Amino acid sequence: MPSFTRLALSALAATAALATGINDYSCKSDSNPVIFLHGLGATYYEDLNFMQYWLQSKGYCTYAQTYGAYDGFPLVGGLKAINVSAPEIASYIKEVTQKTGKAKVDLVGHSEGAFQALYVPKFEGVSHLVDKIAAIAPPTHATAFAHIYDIAYLFGNSSRNAVSEVLHLVGCPACDDVGPDGAAVKRLNDGTPIAQPGNKITIIASKYDELVTPPKTSFIDEDGVNNTWIQDTCPLDPVGHIGEAYDLNVWHLVRNVLDDTPDRKFVCLLGSPGK
Ligand SMILES: *[C@@H]1O[C@H](CO)[C@@H](O)[C@H](O)[C@H]1NC(C)=O
Ligand SMILES: *[C@@H]1O[C@H](CO)[C@@H](O)[C@H](O)[C@H]1NC(C)=O
Ligand SMILES: *[C@@H]1O[C@H](CO)[C@@H](O)[C@H](O)[C@H]1NC(C)=O
Repeated sequence: MPSFTRLALSALAATAALATGINDYSCKSDSNPVIFLHGLGATYYEDLNFMQYWLQSKGYCTYAQTYGAYDGFPLVGGLKAINVSAPEIASYIKEVTQKTGKAKVDLVGHSEGAFQALYVPKFEGVSHLVDKIAAIAPPTHATAFAHIYDIAYLFGNSSRNAVSEVLHLVGCPACDDVGPDGAAVKRLNDGTPIAQPGNKITIIASKYDELVTPPKTSFIDEDGVNNTWIQDTCPLDPVGHIGEAYDLNVWHLVRNVLDDTPDRKFVCLLGSPGK
């Protein structure tokens, strides 16, 4: 991670320490509950966490759990095969609707989590519980990223050894799943629509994404899907893959998805210069 991002993170971490609102089932909001799905190698408290705190401060009730982690290695999520994590996520969606008493949730996913935000409604029988989906840089049609296992390190616990131990012991089926010819990619693109009836999908991608490549692999060419470059709204934002989770411009775009106000204006910041 470039030093700018690390600096920004440590500043944000101070704020985060004060936030306690994730998975608060007594939280009340007029909006749907928002479920966050983290990326490969990440956890519920690493990756989309700062966006969550920001959205909480705007009045949303937010929910997140780590998915796809192996027993004994809770610090590294998203490693299990897509089709193993997907039922975990589906039951979490059911749990959140039941516990909040709301009919539907909105999904916000980043990277592998964005892929799951598309995959789970299509295959796990929960599309009727989902309203809006903000998918940030999903490897929808696979990523051609050459060193796909490196993805697992990106969000990883700063203790790189711990991550490498997990990868060595149990591997990263999800890495293969979203790579070229990945099984989950093939299944998602099986010729039937990805967008399910009643779901409103917005794909948010950066032209400068260096990991989910080529970046337009994220887009879905189907009616009712809004494919948008971050740079369509904020032309000067040079954000890359990891930075997408920590980029205020992206947070605003996501908020506009959740409020169904795609064209509501906000002031673009230059963005985190880096990846
Ligand atoms: C899940 O996907 C893997 C490929 O990643 C495949 O080998 C396996 O059979 C699938 N399992 C289920 C339950 O669909
Ligand atoms: C990182 O991993 C180490 C052990 O490998 C653990 O003690 C530490 O709490 C972890 N840090 C975070 C932020 O998860
Ligand atoms: C898609 O989203 C972008 C970014 O929020 C917005 O500018 C655009 O108007 C949206 N398009 C549609 C058709 O809603």
